[in-house]
Amino acid sequence: MLFCDVSGSTGLGERLDAESVREIMLGYFGEMRRAIERHGGTVEKFIGDAVMAVFGVPVAHEDDAVRAVRAALDMGDRLVELNAQFDERFGVRLAVGIGLFSGEVVAGDASRGEALVTGDAVNIAARLEQAASPGEILLGEPTYRLVRHVAEVERVESIDAKGKSEPVPAYRLLSVASGRSESVRPAGGQMVGRTKEFGALRAVFSDVVTHRGCRLCVVLGEAGIGKSRLAAEFQKTIAATVVYGRCLPYGEGITYSPLAQIVKQAAGIRDEDSVEAARSGISALLASDPQGSRIALVLAQALGLMAGAASSEDIAWAARKFLEALARDGPVVVCLDDLQWAETGFLDLIESTAALSSGLPILLLGLARPELLLQRPRWEALRLEPLAAGEAAQLVVELADLDDGTRSRVIAKAGGNPFFVEELVAAVVEEPELELPATLDALLSARLDRLRPIERLLIERAAVEGEVFHRGAVEALSDDVSGPSITAALDALAAAELVRPAQSSFAGDVSFRFRNILIRDAAYRGIAKKVRAQLHERFANWLLEAVGERVAEHEEVLGYHLEQSYRSLTALGNADAHALLVAGRAAGWLASAGRRAFGRGDMAAAAGLLRRAASLLQVDPPRRLELLPELGKACRFAGDRTGAEAALREAVDQAATLGDRRLMTLSRVEHTFMRLYTDPGVETEDAIRVAEEALGIFAELDDERGLAQAWALIGHANWLLCRGARMEEAFTRALECTQRAGDPREQGWVLRMLALVYYHGPTPVERAIERCEDIVRLGQGHGAIEVSTRAKIAGLEAMRGRFDIARELYLQCRKVGEEFGLGPVLAALPNYSGPIELLAGDLDAAERELRTGFEALQALGETSTLSTNAALLARTLELQGRLDEAERFTILSEQKASADDVASQITWRGVRARILARRGRLEEAQRLARDGAGIAARTDFLVWRGEALLDLAQVLWLSGDAAAFSASAEEALRFFDAKGHVVLRDLTRAVIAKPVALGTP
Ligand SMILES: Nc1ncnc2c1ncn2[C@@H]1O[C@H](COP(=O)(O)OP(=O)(O)OP(=O)(O)O)[C@@H](O)[C@H]1O
Ligand SMILES: [Mg+2]
Repeated sequence: MLFCDVSGSTGLGERLDAESVREIMLGYFGEMRRAIERHGGTVEKFIGDAVMAVFGVPVAHEDDAVRAVRAALDMGDRLVELNAQFDERFGVRLAVGIGLFSGEVVAGDASRGEALVTGDAVNIAARLEQAASPGEILLGEPTYRLVRHVAEVERVESIDAKGKSEPVPAYRLLSVASGRSESVRPAGGQMVGRTKEFGALRAVFSDVVTHRGCRLCVVLGEAGIGKSRLAAEFQKTIAATVVYGRCLPYGEGITYSPLAQIVKQAAGIRDEDSVEAARSGISALLASDPQGSRIALVLAQALGLMAGAASSEDIAWAARKFLEALARDGPVVVCLDDLQWAETGFLDLIESTAALSSGLPILLLGLARPELLLQRPRWEALRLEPLAAGEAAQLVVELADLDDGTRSRVIAKAGGNPFFVEELVAAVVEEPELELPATLDALLSARLDRLRPIERLLIERAAVEGEVFHRGAVEALSDDVSGPSITAALDALAAAELVRPAQSSFAGDVSFRFRNILIRDAAYRGIAKKVRAQLHERFANWLLEAVGERVAEHEEVLGYHLEQSYRSLTALGNADAHALLVAGRAAGWLASAGRRAFGRGDMAAAAGLLRRAASLLQVDPPRRLELLPELGKACRFAGDRTGAEAALREAVDQAATLGDRRLMTLSRVEHTFMRLYTDPGVETEDAIRVAEEALGIFAELDDERGLAQAWALIGHANWLLCRGARMEEAFTRALECTQRAGDPREQGWVLRMLALVYYHGPTPVERAIERCEDIVRLGQGHGAIEVSTRAKIAGLEAMRGRFDIARELYLQCRKVGEEFGLGPVLAALPNYSGPIELLAGDLDAAERELRTGFEALQALGETSTLSTNAALLARTLELQGRLDEAERFTILSEQKASADDVASQITWRGVRARILARRGRLEEAQRLARDGAGIAARTDFLVWRGEALLDLAQVLWLSGDAAAFSASAEEALRFFDAKGHVVLRDLTRAVIAKPVALGTP
């Protein structure tokens, strides 16, 4: 019995007009009723301001008392929200007291209009409620005994009750533990078999614990074979913190959804918590970590709790640090279910965590159907085979008492799949003479067909949300069914083991999980297309309402449901105005999610989401057009050239047809950009002309984003032409435009290009260092920017002769790179440390560095950075006098370098010319050295020019042409001087002063 009354409402009538009072009371009654029904209670009646409700009538559940106390707490929470509204609108607040008592009652027959319950318990509950002060929930002794395993209470003074000689003991309710963590929920029949697999998992786990390391192990097996169950049982047998994340079967692009589940679970965040609360939940967990605030920031961005464009590498780093923080208190098992549906970006995250985490006990336990192997053939895997016949028999016996014949029929049909066994047993128990269907799908459909109509209806509606669903959602899709009927039907489905209670992500809501996703799929298959269309749309509306301000985390899911709704409508040929509206809404969410994926560099996901959005926008050509340039760009970065070409071509044509100047220009810029990357026939100068024309148009239209794109194109074209001054100007302008437009998505790339030009370009060393430091500041929180820019600062410091600082900086940035797991960035780093050592005069160290880089780049299958690395290695070997080896690397560099890889083209020529000259092949040497200097002369990259001239000078000296030697060396000196390259300046001076050191002609 639950009684709830308003203490402090009496004054209302005097201060407010009757209409306001009625509105307040209606709001109050409505909310209270919903809270009660949500937990399976029934409102018996309203008495004045009081609400009287019962749990366990007409159908008793073993946990009625727990439901009642949960409802009471929920009522309190709802009232807080209501009061905020009442206060704002009417200047009043309600306070309620609640009393709960359990006992025998006499239930009347509601259908005959009789009161539901009467009895002693009713009176005592009412007394407890009267004794409760505002905001208090009081329980009687019997209720307390039923809930003490989950509730925290405080003994208070006993109360007197009418007709009771003794005072009645009372307890104040403080809190109720939320449902048990779903990963450890008891499941199905007794576990059979799997001893070997348990042993294997335990061995991996104890290895993780003893060696304090991180290991990845995946359990592979077909649907229903028992992967999730194995993991759940295994977790019960070990002492570890277990976190659980599951990949969703639908909607590509939900890359970090399992990470979000894990973080929210560990930090106790619920879906309706405010963004603020959610973020402070994450920070609290990381409070003792020195990098805690940075980790929390990146995670908040990954979860969509805050704007910002943390990159995929940064997110992987933060995820790893987060798990490590958890593992500091003891072993952690990260259970990652249904990995066959994971996005590539998430699989990469798992891999990098396993590879880079060390020193703390973390087991990454993946569960997946066998198709995962197609994507990750090298992962350590444990195959889950069908149960042996004896084990299946044991399971059957466990589940039901069948006659021998039926039992053997079931075992034969199930083929050792425990899920099939369970379903077959359930079927024959319901209908002993049943002809057993041959497939699990057929069996499941048949089983659903045998449900009562209301249960069938509700399980289908539940299936719309997915494997896990909320009662609130089912309710929102079922305005034709009363609250208590929904509760009863869900209970029946749970009793039939089709669904199980799960942990809800919304406070005050109850959630369930299909025992297996195959049941969900079967239920979903049963829904007519027309109904699907409505249900998906209504679900999206419910979700939108339920998540409130935290909508960014749910964009992909919202987009998916609206997309499904629209697809179902068009499949029926219903492309009416409403359908178009749905398509437009779906596209809006997917496009927004796609842009966020783009911002973090998750290009495959971005391209996928934007493509889906564009496809929905077939119905709205102007909006589709708006999206195409972005889609083209995402495709380009994702390496999908055909997709990029198609999107951009269409964009150019469409914009021309529609006469939209802005989009037309934007599309042309983007298209030119793409061709610059992919089409060797494109004239760089033409690209610059396109961009310059665009600048005029965007300026006229006052379009900062467009301006940023055009400047970036000019910058990139000048990079290909090695014109540093213009490149610097263009990227500086691009940066200013992105800053004014408030568009952080483009910024990362622009910053990296700027660092590149400060290093190579004409900016003198001192100023270049200052500028690079600005970039590090601007790119804060971005591992890749930080690492690549710091490497350049180190190189610049070496140019001015500060080798200790240079080496120290280099080591620091290498450490950051390793911590972030920046594979390709790391592999390229020796192209900075090698030159530092060369300038410092430590040739052995230079060789060591460069060879490490060479191997790493080869392993990555990289060629463009490799060609430069080979040229630098050749230079080192030549200086060591190892001419044959050096020559081999010049050949390699020549083979790998593309025509526009100017650094490699200059260096391999210069080095080979020196080798040839030392071997006396002077004519060839001079030709090559002059070619190299000629290529360099087309650029304003001062160091390249100086080095090429210095190489030429050496060749000329060895050729006996002292005058030409001096001219060439003097010119080199001027370039080094202009760059502020102290080391090469001094070296060149020394060479000029004493050329005989170069050898005798
Ligand atoms: N060894 C076992 N003993 C008893 N019951 C089992 C066993 N293995 C699995 N089951 C039961 O079989 C059903 C299916 O198992 P589970 O959900 O773990 O399959 P799964 O491999 O995770 O399938 P899916 O790929 O669809 O997720 C569950 O109800 C589970 O409780
Ligand atoms: Mg499973």
